[in-house]
Amino acid sequence: MMESMVRADEGSEETLELPRPDDWHVHFRDGAEMEAVAHHTARVFGRALVMPNLRPPVTTVAAALAYRERILAAVRRRGGAAARFFPVMTLYLTEESDPREIDRAAATEGLVRAVKLYPAGATTNAEMGVQSVERVFRVLERMEKQGVVLCVHGEVSDRRVDVFDREAVFVERVLAPLVARFPGLKVVLEHVTTAEGVAFVQETPPTVAATITAHHLLYSRNALFEGGVRPHFYCLPVLKRERHREALLAAAVGGSGKFFLGSDSAPHPRSRKEGECGCAGCFTAHAALPLYAEAFASVGALGALRGFASEFGARFYGFPVSEERVRLVRRSWEVPVSYDYLPGDPLIPLRAGERLEWFVEVGDDGA
Ligand code: NCD
Ligand code: ZN
Repeated sequence: MMESMVRADEGSEETLELPRPDDWHVHFRDGAEMEAVAHHTARVFGRALVMPNLRPPVTTVAAALAYRERILAAVRRRGGAAARFFPVMTLYLTEESDPREIDRAAATEGLVRAVKLYPAGATTNAEMGVQSVERVFRVLERMEKQGVVLCVHGEVSDRRVDVFDREAVFVERVLAPLVARFPGLKVVLEHVTTAEGVAFVQETPPTVAATITAHHLLYSRNALFEGGVRPHFYCLPVLKRERHREALLAAAVGGSGKFFLGSDSAPHPRSRKEGECGCAGCFTAHAALPLYAEAFASVGALGALRGFASEFGARFYGFPVSEERVRLVRRSWEVPVSYDYLPGDPLIPLRAGERLEWFVEVGDDGA
């Protein structure tokens, strides 16, 4: 029984021990912003797939490896478990991407493991993305051959399509034909948010998988309008109806190796979130694993977190499951109202000022 993995010991505390998890979709930004956020992820997660939507975007292996070094320098300064963090890098796909860059990525043996497809204009810093997938077929062919993973932001950017339908329409118009055309290509439907997306992933061969965020497991679109407009719940793909949330949660706890953890933690300074036109992105890295634990525990399936957080993604990306352990403890703590981010412009985390029920203990970080 799954519940048997959750045991009560050390007084009355409930704990769940699991292999050090990985976050297969995270935004670190760069420079001071990266320094401010990367340690939140690196403390808990052994690896993270770092998204390339910087300005300018990370389009070459050389740029990805240089970015990786900056991340490593920042987390090593933190010491403890963070210093052992292993960033896995992605390249930003443009219509100008050179197939030879894929050969270079494959030669990095896991340092640069994936390429991210942003439909042009679909989300933050996606202006340089792809307008027409036919124009990147040569790159996709090379990826299929080299085993480099394609990560997809699965929304059409066609303004005529209702914002709540953009994922389902993308799956039908773009993703299904693409998977049929490149049967050997490993594809991840990033931050899946709909029952249609989940069904597609379930019906396709094992080459196709999906990440699910904690916020899409915990919230429906009602959260965006709870007593007024709530900019810190605005992300892309936007939160959907309750029935979609239920489909995501069922997929996440269902034990299929096709669904795994990708937080999509996406920091923006407060001034860019709370304005006339707020940016898309929820910052969750400060509490990613506790938020997932809350979602899994809400349906009595905490034990299923092990596969979802620590095993399935590693297997899909061709990495071993970590030998290290982290421990989720049922011990409530209060999320700070903000974190320092840019001078005079802090970062507002999800659940700012509220209490969370689960806390993560990591071997040697003094926690
Ligand atoms: C992300 C960001 O801010 O970079 N925003 C978001 O709402 N998820 C981009 C993305 O992953 O879509
Ligand atoms: Zn993202």
